[in-house]
Amino acid sequence: MKTLIKNAQVVLPKEIAQVSVLIEDDKIAAIDPSIATTADEVVDAEGLHLIPGVIDDQVHFREPGLTHKEDLTHASRACAAGGVTTFLEMPNTIPNAITQELLEDKLALGAQNSMVNYGFYIGATPENAEELSRAHRTPGIKIFIGSSTGNLLVDEQEALERIFALTTLPITAHCEDETTVRANKEKYAGTTDVRDHSRIRDYEAAVIATRRAIDLAQRHNHRFHVLHVSTGIEADFLGDFGGLITAEACPHHLFFNVDDYDRLGNLIQMNPSIKHAEDNAKLWEALHAGRIQVIATDHAPHTLEEKAQGYPASPSGLPAVENSLALILNEVNQGNCTLQQVVSWMCDAPARVWDIVNKGRIEVGYDADLALVDMNLRKEIRNEDQQTKCKWSPWNGVTLQGWAVRTYVMGTEVYRDGQLKLDHRGQEAQYDHARGGFWATQD
Ligand code: DOR
Repeated sequence: MKTLIKNAQVVLPKEIAQVSVLIEDDKIAAIDPSIATTADEVVDAEGLHLIPGVIDDQVHFREPGLTHKEDLTHASRACAAGGVTTFLEMPNTIPNAITQELLEDKLALGAQNSMVNYGFYIGATPENAEELSRAHRTPGIKIFIGSSTGNLLVDEQEALERIFALTTLPITAHCEDETTVRANKEKYAGTTDVRDHSRIRDYEAAVIATRRAIDLAQRHNHRFHVLHVSTGIEADFLGDFGGLITAEACPHHLFFNVDDYDRLGNLIQMNPSIKHAEDNAKLWEALHAGRIQVIATDHAPHTLEEKAQGYPASPSGLPAVENSLALILNEVNQGNCTLQQVVSWMCDAPARVWDIVNKGRIEVGYDADLALVDMNLRKEIRNEDQQTKCKWSPWNGVTLQGWAVRTYVMGTEVYRDGQLKLDHRGQEAQYDHARGGFWATQD
């Protein structure tokens, strides 16, 4: 099957150019092919931009075990509708993905149920360092250095040292200091005010844990990726660690701050917590400066009934995978960043951080994971339109300009103008960890 996409403004690694792109089966076969090229389908993409499909390297899709909140079927539809062609999913499902066998069970679920491409992290426990050292078919190891949703936690120094010493896969972590959070919880015991969530999971908690993880990574010379940076303090000190350490920011930490609790209450109760307006600004600054390289969502859905329990019984987490690309494309339209930066943060950098083979760029020989985006399309985010199982968004009622209008997964069109190709199945992402990560693969 050959598809020729004509007349789009194509975001290539070094420029944006109006060139044709030929897809042959699941690969990008030619860029700017000769006029005489024929294809089974010709797409006239006049007025649209063609970008690599988004790779969201931090999602919680809840399957197996928590499928009343979300599942791979709904979440992967949300991906396709949002221009996300590959996701990397976290291990705090039930059972936790903490062995190769359990990881492979999740890979089998991905093959069965996901419309888009998939990968799954393996989770660390205080006891499974040996297992982690043998793990494969995974982007890397996830450590909850501070506890969040679920019971995965590795807080003891000795266990952390062992994991960093024994393993070679890249490590990523949820960085909030457990001791600090526990002490703050006692201080605010009895509170029912969700604003206290940001006082309990405070600056100190985030900064202590991130510094601790960086220290481990440096001493063990181990590749490390800081998830969901939430404070300006971290944003300022990241980036000084050579090729060893990368970091990411999430839309909720870029767009929400404590002033939004009045409007949104515990819908924006997240771990790490939402911080202040100056932190929003610092995170953007760090993205622009390259100290933070990736934007990912931490898509962490809970039902509205669960959220309605009120703080602190309400669980932390919010859904975002469906709207993340539009949220950032809207920033392009506001003049706050460029389309090339968006592609770097959301497509190219995650592929390079996790050594994903043949994804994240529009280049000959790369996988045909693509999104056609309409930078002029204005659309309102509405709960009832969401593909996610939980069917709500903290951005409900917000109108954004710049949306994916078609999504291709491995050469197949899976989404067009609101319609999904429900029977499509994505493929397992492939990794080449010998490549050495973000800086090693930078041109
Ligand atoms: O608030 C959060 N919820 N943060 C995380 O990192 C995990 C997530 C979840 O799984 O619900």
